[in-house]
This record gives sequence, C-alpha cells and structure tokens, in this order.
Amino acid sequence: MLNLLEPTPPHWVEHASADLPRLLSDHAHCELKAAQSALSLVGRYAGEAPELVEPLVALAKEETQHYQLVHQRIAARGERMALPASDKYVRSLQQAAREDHREAPALLDRLLVCAFIEARSCERFKLLSEHLPDPDLAEFYAALMVSEARHYRLFSGLAEARFGQAARTRMQRLAEREAAIAAHLPLGPTVHG
Ligand SMILES: [Fe+2]
Ligand SMILES: [Fe+2]
Repeated sequence: MLNLLEPTPPHWVEHASADLPRLLSDHAHCELKAAQSALSLVGRYAGEAPELVEPLVALAKEETQHYQLVHQRIAARGERMALPASDKYVRSLQQAAREDHREAPALLDRLLVCAFIEARSCERFKLLSEHLPDPDLAEFYAALMVSEARHYRLFSGLAEARFGQAARTRMQRLAEREAAIAAHLPLGPTVHG
C-alpha cells in the first residue's frame, strides 16, 4: 500500500536505538522540512493548482506540531537539537526524479517525491513502534506512523486527482528508483539513513 519495493532491514532499529539523541534530532528536522516543503509547494503552485492550498497548509500546521512534539521530547531528555544535516535519501530521490524529468511535469514529481518520503518515514516509524525498548517512545512512533500513512495517501491522492493515469505510471517508475536508493544507503541512526 505504501509502494515501497525494498523493505528496511529490521536491524536498522538497532542503529536507531543505539543513538536516540541523534535519531530524535534528525527526526525533528524531518518534521520541520516536511512543513517547509508543503509551504514551498503552496508558494509555487497556488496559482496553477489552487486545490493544493487547503490540504497543504493544514499539513504544514500538522508537521510543525510534530516538530514541536519531538522537540519537547528532546528537551525533556535534557538534550539539544543538532544542526540540520543534508538528508542523502531525500537528495538522491529528488535527483533521481530530475534525471528523467522529461517523463513527468515538475509538480507531479514534487508531489510523488513527498509521497515517498512520507511512505518511507511511515515504514521506519512502524519499525520503531514495534522494536524500541522504551514503551512510551514506541507508542509515540505508533501514533506518528498513522499520520505518515495518511500523508502518503494525501500526496499520492493529490497527484492522482490532478494527473490521473500519468501519476500512477510515474509512481511505479519512481518506486523502482526509490527502492534502489534505499537499498544502497548505509544504515544509521537517522529517519532515512
Ligand atoms: Fe510528521
Ligand atoms: Fe508527514
């Protein structure tokens, strides 16, 4: 249902739980970037695709709230945010979409790249919810996993509503690229690493 052709190896959770401060800080940055990229889509496409405005403004608010929740956990643990690091998974995905960009309109690819980021985060949060030893943190990730699945459906639904069959075809192509990227990234204590 998430269109992920390459499952994350379950032992990724060991990397994540071995460095929770880094995982949480990276996760908080992911939430903030999700809010920013939703607003950036609104800024660029409100004129030609006004149907994006309401759902993406609502999404940006929700992702900002997620950032706040993760940050509150970081503060409660007596830790601090690290500086934002470049997300190699996201960069590779954007690059893969651009490489064959003549196949699809830019907006379609931007919506689908967001859909895959949500899908992969959802898959990773599910692993955390099932395997983290801290029951409270595991429950937190179970709740966020549900949001990420909904966000995946939002982005893929917006793409399909606007681009129809072209969206479904492009989704399959990008699913193959996404799987190849996921298979080659070294595992680490980050949401997409
Ligand atoms: Fe989120
Ligand atoms: Fe999300």
